[in-house]
Amino acid sequence: MSLNVIKPTEIDENTCKLIGKDWMLVTAQKGESVNTMTASWGGLGVMWGKDVAFVVIRPQRYTKEFVDASTHFSLSFFDNSYREKLSYLGKVSGRDEDKIAKSNLTVADDLAAPYFKEAKLVLVCKKLFKQPLAESSFLDPALTERWYPSKDYHELYIAEIETVLKR
Ligand SMILES: Cc1cc2nc3c(=O)[nH]c(=O)nc-3n(C[C@H](O)[C@H](O)[C@H](O)COP(=O)(O)O)c2cc1C
Repeated sequence: MSLNVIKPTEIDENTCKLIGKDWMLVTAQKGESVNTMTASWGGLGVMWGKDVAFVVIRPQRYTKEFVDASTHFSLSFFDNSYREKLSYLGKVSGRDEDKIAKSNLTVADDLAAPYFKEAKLVLVCKKLFKQPLAESSFLDPALTERWYPSKDYHELYIAEIETVLKR
């Protein structure tokens, strides 16, 4: 079954489950190369009168170089049969292995950011805003202790959802 274009307001999944429990792939292009990584933090919502997605990416992720190099990135969501592939893509760095080739996923290149043909839901997003999470902005010190012992604060990206594809 093919992917059809729907509106962001027609996404009917629970996003806490979709992102937090089922995970997604954040994918972007740099030159001729594509890299992807698994993410389970982020959200969908509305900012500046636009439907947006937000993701947070730690500075050491290879994918960050790709997201920073492009105007767009994609978020791809899969059914449960892809869980092992998402685990792998979230454990190994594209700096060390050709992760996409090894995971046997097919990159589609017909939109503003690369995405995966096997996905059940795809969001192609145009970057609007990015900012590192500043240590001084955390109101609960338990968060920084737990999540940032190495002070590798995520960078927040807010991006306009330009295209949504659903199977
Ligand atoms: C379930 C899961 C969720 C993850 N969520 C995030 C995230 O939201 N942000 C992030 O920076 N890294 C996250 N990661 C870690 C990256 O996916 C992982 O470090 C990956 O190997 C980075 O690959 P890269 O170096 O090719 O970009 C997650 C990993 C897993 C397994």
